[in-house]
Order: sequence, then C-alpha cells, then structure tokens
Amino acid sequence: MGSAITGWGDALPERVVTNAEFEARLDTSDEWIVSRTGIRERHVGGTTGELAVKAGWAALKSAGVDGTDIDLLVLATTTPDRAAPATSAAVHDTLGCSGTAFDLNAACAGFVYALVVADHLLDKTHRRALVIGADTLSRITDQEDRSTAVLFGDGAGAVVLERGGADDFVLSYDLGVDGSATPLLYADHGGYIKMAGREVYRRAVRAEILSIERVLGDAGLGADDIALFVPHQANARIIEAVNERIGIPMDKTAIVLDRTGNTSSASIPLALAHAADAGRLSEGDLVLLSGFGAGMTWASAVIRWGRRGAGR
Ligand code: UT7
Repeated sequence: MGSAITGWGDALPERVVTNAEFEARLDTSDEWIVSRTGIRERHVGGTTGELAVKAGWAALKSAGVDGTDIDLLVLATTTPDRAAPATSAAVHDTLGCSGTAFDLNAACAGFVYALVVADHLLDKTHRRALVIGADTLSRITDQEDRSTAVLFGDGAGAVVLERGGADDFVLSYDLGVDGSATPLLYADHGGYIKMAGREVYRRAVRAEILSIERVLGDAGLGADDIALFVPHQANARIIEAVNERIGIPMDKTAIVLDRTGNTSSASIPLALAHAADAGRLSEGDLVLLSGFGAGMTWASAVIRWGRRGAGR
C-alpha cells in the first residue's frame, strides 16, 4: 500500500530583515549578498515550536483533517526550543494530535529524512503523519558576524502524509552522513554557528550531485522525468551548479531563498508548499527533493505528487 501528501502549509515570522539593514550596520553590501548567495531578505522571529504549530495548522487545514486525525508527528529541527522535552511534544499537544511525536535532527537535510522515516512508519496504527521542518537559526547566529548573519532566516513548512492508494510515494531515497566533516559547520550548546563557508560550498555541490544521481539511477529515471526539483535553499549558486550538472532547468526548480534565506530544516518544505500553492504541481508529477547540511548530512528522494494516491 502506498501513501500521498494530502495537505501542506508553511509559516514565516512577520519581521523581514532586508540586505539594506545589514548594509547599514555591518561591513557588507546588498550587491555582495545577492551576487554570492541570491538572498535579498529573510524572516526572523518566534520560536521553533510556534512556527511549527502555524505550519502544522495550515497543513491540517489544507488536508481537511483535525489534529486528532494525526497518528504520528515528526518534527525535523536543528534548533529545538529546549534540550528536553522534544519540541514536537509541545507541537503535538497544541495541535491536539493523537499517537506519538518525536524530533529529528539531520540539519538542513532534516525534512527529507523525516519524510522518509514517516513514510516507513505509516501502517495500520499510524495512518496519517504530520511531517514538519521548522528552524529558528537566527537564535544561534552571531548577528555581528557578516560571514553568517546574512545567510540564515527562520521559518517552517509542513505536509500531511496519508496511507492509502496503490502507488509508492517515495520512489527512491538516499540518506547519508559524513561526521568527519563536523568541524566545517557546527554550533555548540549556547554558542553560534561556525562555518568554513567555501569548503562547505564545495562539499555541498559534490554531495548533492552524487546523491541525486543515486536516487535517479535507483528509480530508473532521467532528469527529464522530474517535474519539479525542490533543493535545499542555502545558496543560489549551489543550486545553479547542481542543476547544470544534473541537467534540470531553473524553471523546473522551486526557489524561495531570495525571500527566506537559509531556513535549514524548513527550507525544502517551505519551497515545496510555495510551489504547490502556486499551482506548479499536478497529479502524478515526480518531485525531486535534495538537501545537505551540518554533519555533513545529505538526503535526496524522488516522490510522487498527488492527493488521489491516498484514495480520498
Ligand atoms: O545549509 C548549510 C550549508 N551551508 C551552506 O550551504 C553555505 C555554503 N557556503 C556558501 O554559501 C558560501 O561559501 C558563502 C556565501 C558562505 C560565502 O561565499 P564565498 O563566495 O564562498 O566567499 P568566501 O567565504 O570565500 O569569502 C570571500 C570574501 C572574503 O574576503 P577576503 O578574504 O577575500 O578578503 C570574506 O571575508 O568575502 C568576504 N565576506 C563578505 N564580504 C561582504 C564574507 N562574508 C561577507 C559579507 N559581505 N557578508
């Protein structure tokens, strides 16, 4: 038995921080930020739990279900509100969900990890999952450090994943980690993000290309079969380099980073929700998701889009 995404939603804090704000107080410029990253503004504020709840509500509404219809909540986050309990516990309670909930930390690859895990857990007991990616990276970013402050934003995205239908939802996936790369990108408890940007960039391009080649190969697909590519939204130049190598045109790619910055676990579901809201997805479309992040982690998946898959 397969499964399908039956609803989606997203949440961004109200406060918008433009490149001009950074230009006014740091040794940087709108020109540098746009040309090196593609980012023009980012949203900042709220807690991870608050944003996760907002995106979760929107996804439940879009699916036409209540919290009580959810048997499983998986929250991908790198910035939990507390060390314990998991942020998903409070989100589960606020949304009035049934069943269980847990957090998952795979940094910017987290949402794809969470989607694959949730899909595997759907069975007779867990019929409907709410999968959320939410992060408030602004809380762990040194706002005086121009090399990281301009990059990150806060947000959340969510989908309802429902068991049913004959078609496989995940056609292929690839999850990986290389812990030896930890010194390149990390944040200690109570500390700020430290990143060797250029080396992370180099490895991110390589990891994404290899991972995408693996999932396309495993599913027996070519780049032309993909209706929409939803990459992690870290840097427009990384996305362009990957697209060029894989052979996916930019007009088949979901981009929100110009308005959101890098929102880590939230970036892929945010871009997916925006694309779905914009009517860019049709029944049966094959969607490629791919992300990478601290760890270094990477995750790619080819999924089949379509509410009908769940037999609603
Ligand atoms: O989602 C988690 C994964 N993280 C990422 O995907 C980030 C990957 N890395 C990147 O996106 C890019 O490496 C950055 C956007 C972080 C940096 O771009 P870059 O083209 O790799 O620049 P760089 O780090 O090599 O720095 C070039 C110059 C340096 O000055 P010098 O040493 O050449 O004089 C930096 O100090 O740019 C300087 N610089 C800035 N200048 C103006 C760094 N940040 C800024 C800034 N404004 N905000």
